[in-house]
This record gives sequence, C-alpha cells and structure tokens, in this order.
Amino acid sequence: MSSLDVIIVAAGSGTRLGLSVPKAFVPLMGKPILSYSLQTFLSHQAINSVILVVPDSMYESANRDYAGKRVKVTTGGEHRWQSVSRGIDISDAEWVMIHDAARPFVSNMVIDRLLAMKPKYDCVITVTPEVDTIRMYSGDQAGETVDRDKLVRVGTPQMFRKETLCQGLIRAKSLPTPPTDEAILMQQMGVKVGIAWGDPRNFKITTPSDLEIAEALIARSQQMSLGGQ
Ligand code: CTP
Ligand code: MG
Repeated sequence: MSSLDVIIVAAGSGTRLGLSVPKAFVPLMGKPILSYSLQTFLSHQAINSVILVVPDSMYESANRDYAGKRVKVTTGGEHRWQSVSRGIDISDAEWVMIHDAARPFVSNMVIDRLLAMKPKYDCVITVTPEVDTIRMYSGDQAGETVDRDKLVRVGTPQMFRKETLCQGLIRAKSLPTPPTDEAILMQQMGVKVGIAWGDPRNFKITTPSDLEIAEALIARSQQMSLGGQ
C-alpha cells in the first residue's frame, strides 16, 4: 500500500479572528484549535505521519507539545502554498493530505471518502453544497443570480500524489497572485481534480462568530456523551 502523510497548515496569523494568538493556537474549549484535527488524523490507520506547519513564533512550543514518533513540526511561509511547500519538504510519503488547522471537525468519514478516490485521481478536494442564493453585484446594485446547483464550496482535507503536487508548487513561484489552494495549481497544469463530498460541520473557523459556533458544537457533543453514560 502507498504511504500517506498529512500536512496540517497552521502558520497563518488569523487576522480576521483578530486575537493576539495565531488562529490555530487559539483555545477551543480549553484545547488549541489545531489539536482537534491532529488527533483525528493520528487515530486514522491509513496515515503514517502528520506534519504540523506553524508560525516561527510558535515553533518552540509546538515542537515541545506535539513532535514525536508520528508528528513532525516545521515553520511556514508568508502564503499558504509556501507553508504547504515547507511541509512537503520533510515528507517522504507518496501521497499527502493537506488540511487547514482552522477546520477542527474533520472526520474519519471525510478522510475515507477522499481515500476512496485515490485510484482515479492524483488530486481530490473535499467540497460541500452551496446553500445560499448567490448573486453577482456591482456597486450598490444586485446583478445576475448564479445557478447554485452548479457551485460547490471547497474545503480541506485535499489529497495529492506528492510528485504531482511538487510540480504545481514549483509553478506557484512564478504566479502573479498566490493561489488560495493547491488544487488550483493542479488544474492549471491540466491535472484532473476529483471531488469528494465533505461535511458542512468541518467548516473553517475564520471570524469570532465561527469560534462561537465551534464552541457550541463541542459543548453539545460533550453533553451528548455525558447523557449516554
Ligand atoms: N496558513 C498557513 N500559512 C499561511 C497562511 C495560512 O499555514 N501563510 C494556514 C492557516 O493557519 C489556516 C489555513 O492555512 O489553518 C487556512 O487559512 P486562513 O483560514 O486564511 O487562516 P489565516 O491566514 O490564519 O487567517 P486570516 O486570513 O484571517 O489571517
Ligand atoms: Mg489567510
């Protein structure tokens, strides 16, 4: 069986969340946001190692708290793709899953759906349906409505054959604007990108209200497990 590593990108600052601690290290019900997805990936049997990519300022503490037999820690870059690239540098697996630390609620089900697509695609992204009505706009005027049945929301984890991803990352260096994810690089190279249906609960914590929702979800699951005892 081919080897698989996970790269959790956690090197962003979390400008939109607006706290003094980098977003991935903000406590969520007492534990750093990044620790939730780390735990899920480490408990999945298909995953060899997890590479945590953290800001320079957090390297020492993250290395102390998380580095071990199956976890490596490294520092990230200015843009997300550069953080991905730093993680790839220390992976020796054939396949990698890239995951946003800001999505604490990844599940085994979503990981398994990505894995199921491996025989077919070198790159598979997780997507969820768009539920809002989406419109174009100009100034203060609404424009055309876009057919939402043709749209999906793109999330992580995203899975790549590492060799193919490395080729894309080389190209990223010469792009005028940084790509928001690495699947965009794959498509620019003509690589077909597969989709696996994700879970809306695996949303990205971006703003203070997202943090409140995440806290409520955990509180609820804690209550449910207490109730079940
Ligand atoms: N990320 C990273 N390196 C960067 C930028 C982002 O590793 N240079 C990571 C973030 O830590 C996050 C994920 O990519 O887990 C998704 O990015 P985003 O949600 O935009 O996080 P931030 O960039 O930290 O937030 P903001 O854009 O609000 O500053
Ligand atoms: Mg960002």
